Amino acid sequence: MHGVRSCVGRARWLVARALDAQAEAQRDNRLLSRAIAAYLDVLKLNERLTDARLLQIAGRTLDRIRFRGNYLSAEPVYRLLIRRFPDVVDYRNNLTVSLLMANRADLAEEVIKETLRTWPDDRVALAHLGFILKTQHNRNEEAVEAFQKALEGDLGPATESRFYYHLGDSLLLLNRFTEAHEVHKRGAKLGHFLSPSQRSLYNVHRLKSRPWWDIEQTPYLKLARALEKSWEDILKEGQAAQALYEKEKEGLKERGEWSQLDLFVRGQEVPGRCKKAPVTCSIVRAEKAAAGCRRGQIKFSAMEAGTHVRPHVGPTNCRLRMHLGLSNTKDTYIRVDQETRQWQVGKVFMFDDSFEHEVWHNGTGTRLVLIVDVWHPALSADERRELPPI
Ligand code: LMR
Ligand code: MN
Repeated sequence: MHGVRSCVGRARWLVARALDAQAEAQRDNRLLSRAIAAYLDVLKLNERLTDARLLQIAGRTLDRIRFRGNYLSAEPVYRLLIRRFPDVVDYRNNLTVSLLMANRADLAEEVIKETLRTWPDDRVALAHLGFILKTQHNRNEEAVEAFQKALEGDLGPATESRFYYHLGDSLLLLNRFTEAHEVHKRGAKLGHFLSPSQRSLYNVHRLKSRPWWDIEQTPYLKLARALEKSWEDILKEGQAAQALYEKEKEGLKERGEWSQLDLFVRGQEVPGRCKKAPVTCSIVRAEKAAAGCRRGQIKFSAMEAGTHVRPHVGPTNCRLRMHLGLSNTKDTYIRVDQETRQWQVGKVFMFDDSFEHEVWHNGTGTRLVLIVDVWHPALSADERRELPPI
């Protein structure tokens, strides 16, 4: 018994393995894609495979698909496993994860619902359901129920940082602040958050954090002074490019109007933008930790009077955020963790947006600021080069 009960199958399998080995040796993604396609071909003959061989080939195929980052091609493999092992819920939950990674929440939702029909108490499926209800349908009350059922009193496989994050966030969206705080405290205690108020999910753990920073205590004083010196030119550039602003789309504001104009994203200029803002760009380009910050952005942020931005956190503790006040800063406020401050025209301040923060524009006119993210000063050159961008 060799597990592949046909000559064709065995030949295909040998081809796939050879391509796989070659792709690995040469670190060649084109070869890897061919290897994955060849594995998928072997799996088409799955009826001729023993359970053990099917698991072996499927396992390697899924591993290579994840490595390649082409998550949608995992679907047929999981479907096969589900058909062969209908009692194993993990294959269904892993299929859900692959579909979410492939940005196919619509397909993921179908799988979750199907899973819950047979396993109504499965914590992983319930947590995924909460995630879909919150992020796709804005049905936060139902999301909270699903998350709570999934997470409460359990330290099992559903206990993932992002589920705690989204449960807390759903509660904040529902103005259920006391319950949100309890979740944030529990999440921090379980190690999902750096602290109840610092809830970024992509962290370098050793970094020292505080909500507000004195620029004098960072290497970015020169940048801050240069921005302050040219604030009037920067303001003009931000105003002249008005047509290019995009509305904020993360659902962070409770009321009002808020739009942004990206100049740099993930350490790269948005093509053509610096032609629109040459002074601003030349200043930020002089500081590599700003223009090259792959975990941040450089952008104008325009907020209309009457806007309230809900409490929220940024994704990472690897950046610090500078704001240069440009216009209509009177009666505008930003709370970071426990401390609320105000912008001043022509002045820079700096905070760590991985801490919970909240913004109010209770004044008049459009409040404009320039946001400049910089690498956390304690990150090494290697880390700045190698951390995956956000
Ligand atoms: C935020 O990062 O949420 C705010 O600081 C943005 C803004 O324009 O005030
Ligand atoms: Mn923010």
